[in-house]
Amino acid sequence: MSEYLLEMKDVSKAFPGVQALNHAQLKLKAGRVHALMGENGAGKSTLMKCMFGIYKMDQGQIYMDGKPVTISDPIDALSKGIAMVHQELQPIPARPIGENIYLGRYPIKKLFGFIPIVDHDKLYKDTEELLKKVKLPFDPRQHVGTLSTSQMQLVEIAKAVSINCRILILDEPTSSLTQREVESLFSIIEDLKKDGVAIVYISHKMDEILRISNEVTIMRDGNYIGTWEASELTTNTIITKMVGRELTNLFPKRENIPGEVVFEVEDFTSINPKSFRNVSFNIRRGEILGVGGLVGAQRTELMEGIFGIRSHISGTVKLNGKEMRITRPKDAIDQGVAMLTESRRASGIMGVLSVADNISISSLKKYLDYGFAINNGKVESLVQDNVQKMNIKTPSSKTLIQSLSGGNQQKVVIGRWLANNPDVLILDEPTRGIDVGAKYEIYCIIAELAKQGKSILMITSEMAELLGMSDRIMVMCDGKCTGFLDGKEANQEKVMNLATKFD
Ligand SMILES: Nc1ncnc2c1ncn2[C@@H]1O[C@H](COP(=O)(O)OP(=O)(O)OP(=O)(O)O)[C@@H](O)[C@H]1O
Ligand SMILES: [Mg+2]
Repeated sequence: MSEYLLEMKDVSKAFPGVQALNHAQLKLKAGRVHALMGENGAGKSTLMKCMFGIYKMDQGQIYMDGKPVTISDPIDALSKGIAMVHQELQPIPARPIGENIYLGRYPIKKLFGFIPIVDHDKLYKDTEELLKKVKLPFDPRQHVGTLSTSQMQLVEIAKAVSINCRILILDEPTSSLTQREVESLFSIIEDLKKDGVAIVYISHKMDEILRISNEVTIMRDGNYIGTWEASELTTNTIITKMVGRELTNLFPKRENIPGEVVFEVEDFTSINPKSFRNVSFNIRRGEILGVGGLVGAQRTELMEGIFGIRSHISGTVKLNGKEMRITRPKDAIDQGVAMLTESRRASGIMGVLSVADNISISSLKKYLDYGFAINNGKVESLVQDNVQKMNIKTPSSKTLIQSLSGGNQQKVVIGRWLANNPDVLILDEPTRGIDVGAKYEIYCIIAELAKQGKSILMITSEMAELLGMSDRIMVMCDGKCTGFLDGKEANQEKVMNLATKFD
């Protein structure tokens, strides 16, 4: 018997213009969590899609229990006991949770003993048991569309568990989970480990990796760098191996001094009594105002209210002393306010359009000749400028955005808002899903924008980012603003005190 449940050896895979995998490898043991790490575009998802039969390898071999196997497609992968939770979720919103989980493998019963029909009673009973097993408090008949992104992600994980797999691939499973949801995922993982399941865990969150994984494989530019016991590694050694050099600066140095008040929000209150209430704050020219708080503090809701995505019942917003009328996002954009939304994977990306289109789409007006003819040259130089500035890894600007790696897709969306040249930029979790090296690049971009005199509001759940980037910090708890801290004097304890100030 082989020591490994599954081995991938010498795997290469090219896409037009990119060698996504170059002699990559991975060895999984039963009952262990194996972290797969690397920068955005390193080839992690591609390697997993080869294992799951979505992509055909150009070269390489897969062994299960020491014997060579071919995995021709996802159905074949499932039948061999391999399940995958994808980085990009694709649930069917208008169908119940039960149907989403058992899609394509509904339990069947025989009507009058011979007409096969779907056994809905069994479907929902099985779903109920499954949800109980993974401790999710949902009704099996509830439509998936009524769930939040993080809840959908948990349902997706439950679905993978329902397959009774031997190998479970989790590609950035916690990117939108709350802390409590992460804990329940981790307890599901512990149970699966006890059952002897091998888990591949892809994440950019170092603390999670070091906590949950037994082994770590690191990739860079499609190449296999090595595999280590997690206990041998620290955050720093992982980063160095991932990036291929030592990262000395985690945040850019900032020297500019904020100027006059540009953006003012006063007494802003949601139509929903459980959401934001009586929030007032302002941002100065060239200032980065960080917004801290626990998940559920209503920070995103507040910003969506200001931006015209959600309704509010009272409160005013002023730009340069003038009251703004915002009833929909377009009003805000036209007046110089841009917002990078938290769920950009769901709402920010137009998958079938190219990188160039995705960057230029909301600022095309600026690139018209005679007011109507798009000047392609100008658009292309805008796009090239962005690709270069943000180090977006793409074969060309004509590549469809859906074929970029997750983190690179996000950089494209950030580029779109920059192209609009707004006065006020609202960033909701700007570096979610982005690797450490690219994070620094994005921090530099944010710092540069502040230096140019833009006012920046940045919601972040990462304490280091909040403390490292903010000139000033506003903290929210349970829909209310509980205090402001000066960036230089703030520390984790002060932020947490305000973030947990429930009344
Ligand atoms: N379907 C595809 N068509 C063309 N290129 C692709 C396709 N899928 C992936 N690539 C390219 O292959 C490389 C590896 O991408 P992959 O998605 O595997 O990266 P990743 O390590 O998962 O990154 P991230 O952390 O950002 O999710 C990237 O350069 C990406 O643009
Ligand atoms: Mg990926």
